[in-house]
Amino acid sequence: MTQNIAIIRGDGIGPEIMAEAIAVLDKISAKFGHTFNYTEAPMGGEAIDKYDDPLPQSSLDTCLASDSVLLSAVGGPKWDSVPKEKRPERGLLRLRAGMELYANIRPATLFDELRDASPLKPSIVDKGIDFVVVRELIGGAYFGEHKTMTRGGEDYAQDIMGYSEHEIERITHVAFKTAQKRRKIVCSVDKANVLDSSKLWRRVVTKVAESYPDVILSHMYVDNCAMQLVRNPAQFDVIVTENLFGDILSDEASMITGSIGMIPSSSLGEGTCGLYEPIHGSAPDIAGTNAANPIGMILSAAMMLRDSFDMPNEADAIESAVDAVLKKGFRTGDTMSEGKTRLGCHEIGVAICEKI
Ligand code: IPM
Ligand code: MG
Repeated sequence: MTQNIAIIRGDGIGPEIMAEAIAVLDKISAKFGHTFNYTEAPMGGEAIDKYDDPLPQSSLDTCLASDSVLLSAVGGPKWDSVPKEKRPERGLLRLRAGMELYANIRPATLFDELRDASPLKPSIVDKGIDFVVVRELIGGAYFGEHKTMTRGGEDYAQDIMGYSEHEIERITHVAFKTAQKRRKIVCSVDKANVLDSSKLWRRVVTKVAESYPDVILSHMYVDNCAMQLVRNPAQFDVIVTENLFGDILSDEASMITGSIGMIPSSSLGEGTCGLYEPIHGSAPDIAGTNAANPIGMILSAAMMLRDSFDMPNEADAIESAVDAVLKKGFRTGDTMSEGKTRLGCHEIGVAICEKI
């Protein structure tokens, strides 16, 4: 099978971890007889430097024309002082909106080998952590009207958080379909005791749930959810929530599994073309030192093979290789513990390729 993949190398540690993911994909294509064509689509800081635009039209066009997009991470202190519309993050938000990727899937899975890396007590971790955050990605406060003005003689700023029924419906379907392939439990997270947008959220989610009688639905306020994630994460299977709540909860969810460096994510719309990226940032402080953990990036490539290219065996091969490398005791600095062997970003990539 031939697949065309748009590559966003990104900033900071981005190019280093992307190189390892591409090496893994090349290994898979050789083993399973596929052809993966890569086309670069500069976005973020790299694109600001080259084109004075965090998402040039040519990059968006490349992504839209591809079968899928693989992204590392963008941003860094170098672009901290550029105007808001030109920041690297704007490129990412415009890409998500431009590709209409409304569903962001962020698994929080504890690797058996990394139990010690979780900041939670063993009595909590031992119950297991295996859930998915389904985050609405192109609505809410991120995409509502932003305004800074003067009011009553002082500066005043606002960001409007709004949702339409249709936006809530489509993300809810994704959550329920995801749950049907798992333990069939959905927890919808909102702030319906305060926010109108959350009241509508709850009403629409409850209505959509009627077409999934095999799935159990519960509702939880976002503050309670933040607490439950550290108190008893084993209760969760699928969490569905709006954009900003999902941004915050998914960082918390990743940390309890041990390392944010391990977690992949996908962003999907109506078609099969998706955007796959690790959930961590560009870690400019360790860029160029071969210290980054490439596993979140490599597992994002695996997720792409399974979910966009319908290649479950190929995805399994990558995930098993990652497991095997962890079992051998190989670690990057972020997941290092006593008795393990510390390797660089590239060496971890090589070890994973060898296992494949
Ligand atoms: C994420 C990031 C982004 C977001 C930033 C970089 C715009 O935090 O993917 O979670 O807030 O969505
Ligand atoms: Mg975030």
